[in-house]
Amino acid sequence: MLTVNDIKNDKEVIAIMKKSAEQIEALGFTEHSVRHSSIVSKRSGEILRLIGKSEERVHLAEIAGYLHDIGNCVCREAHAQSGAMLAYQILTRMGMSYPDACDVMMAIGNHDEKFGLPVSDVSAALIIADKSDVHKSRVRKNITGAELSAEQNIHDRVNVAAEKSYITVDPNEREILLTVEIDISVCPVMDYFQIYFSRMKLCQTAAAFLEYKFGLMINGARLL
Ligand SMILES: [Fe+2]
Ligand SMILES: [Fe+2]
Repeated sequence: MLTVNDIKNDKEVIAIMKKSAEQIEALGFTEHSVRHSSIVSKRSGEILRLIGKSEERVHLAEIAGYLHDIGNCVCREAHAQSGAMLAYQILTRMGMSYPDACDVMMAIGNHDEKFGLPVSDVSAALIIADKSDVHKSRVRKNITGAELSAEQNIHDRVNVAAEKSYITVDPNEREILLTVEIDISVCPVMDYFQIYFSRMKLCQTAAAFLEYKFGLMINGARLL
């Protein structure tokens, strides 16, 4: 069975990840490199493991998490769809079975809040893991010199303010909880909502797909 370490060491994946990070940096978006992919990979797998899914599903979630943003090497727009097709080709070339590669493809193709919806356990875990990675280390300088859009600016402010964000899973309460700590001297909690409202809604839908509730705690206050 292919593991995420096989994927991480593949020359084609290494090249694509490097080019994706370069393109995202050129556009001035928040960091989408190996750091983000590794965190999302680990969290996706942990979510499925903690809710009692098989190791096969955990491995697929780890792989989907690691590859989910590789479409950024094509274009930021529709990166979920382009990345899904790239991942399918890479994984079948590496010997993954067609059904498993399809599972990874559809999880990646559905991870973005613009068009995506949870369509499987792997997909639901990937959505929650991806949307939970908010951190100041993700803010990048725009090297093209182009003006940042209002949306990019607020994204940066929210990320700069985010001291911590992590997921915990409580199988007894059947709840997946996202805990965020924000420095409110940098950005008000309202800014977090302005940016993340649609993402939190998608996380709720994803948790419901897993038959769990989704909880949100910001600076010790329960918001969901
Ligand atoms: Fe993405
Ligand atoms: Fe992502």
